Amino acid sequence: MKAQVLVTKRIYPEAVDLLRQHAEVDYVDSDDGLPAEELARRVRGKQAIVSQLTDRFDAAVIDSLEGVRSISNVAVGFDNIDVAAATRKGILVTNTPDVLTDTTADFAWTLLMAAARRVVEGHRYVHSGQWRAWYIDLLVGHDVHHRTMGIFGMGRIGQAVAKRAGGFSMRILYHDAVRAPEALEKSLNLEFVSAEELLRQSDFISLHVPLLPETRHMIGAEQLRMMKASAILVNTSRGPVVDEAALAEALERKTIAGAGLDVFEQEPKVQPLLLKLENVVLAPHIASASIDTRRKMSVMAAENAVAALAGRRPPNLLNPS
Ligand code: DGY
Repeated sequence: MKAQVLVTKRIYPEAVDLLRQHAEVDYVDSDDGLPAEELARRVRGKQAIVSQLTDRFDAAVIDSLEGVRSISNVAVGFDNIDVAAATRKGILVTNTPDVLTDTTADFAWTLLMAAARRVVEGHRYVHSGQWRAWYIDLLVGHDVHHRTMGIFGMGRIGQAVAKRAGGFSMRILYHDAVRAPEALEKSLNLEFVSAEELLRQSDFISLHVPLLPETRHMIGAEQLRMMKASAILVNTSRGPVVDEAALAEALERKTIAGAGLDVFEQEPKVQPLLLKLENVVLAPHIASASIDTRRKMSVMAAENAVAALAGRRPPNLLNPS
């Protein structure tokens, strides 16, 4: 009998075709995702699940799973899955690293440049017919080149963001729970500093940490107060890493200059004050959203599921124990 796979939400067709070569696929061909009760019903009898970051696999859901061998998340982040609970239950959990690194770093830079050089304000200005003449301080913004970049989290994406900062001749500060190897620091011209030094000295701060209990609200009112009045904050990691209400207040009072946000505390809801401010650029969690990358993520998740079904170790296993 063929193995049974649940795909909880639409993915690229190549990935579905691959799964179909190896299993019977219950494919939810929709972008809405499944409500919790429907998800609980559809997982019955499945050996593999291809999930997305909008599906919650908390300990209670995982404990209720019967016969599931793997959960393959179509994302590098996996804070939607209680990996410890899955490990206890003997369920393999996988993610999609590497394929989205450069695409996500490009987008962190897109937000940074857009916020620094007021691209969205400029677009609205032209679009609404307000543009009458060139003048000396029309929509003047902040230089990026030769300024100081601060990166929280020097993993794959943090490194890719740092690489790009080198091209803008920036000084690059970083902070992480674990210091990077000396060779990496040298090759990317990185300076390891405390979180406080990074906050106080950086002109641009980009967040590349996973969502963990210790990173939840790691940027709150206190940290925002430490930042320069000219600083710009970029978040392409996870929304709850930033206290959104505190950020909105800092932006409104202009105690920092701007922000570029791709992720939010309660997606798809956005703090109402953020929607009113001009000094923030908002995007709907699309940092990895290039056609090629989203296709690769889909196929990678499918390959992880196929490996688990075949009794092989999936290439991107998060819980080898
Ligand atoms: C991820 O992969 O974790 C992103 O948030 C979506 O690409």
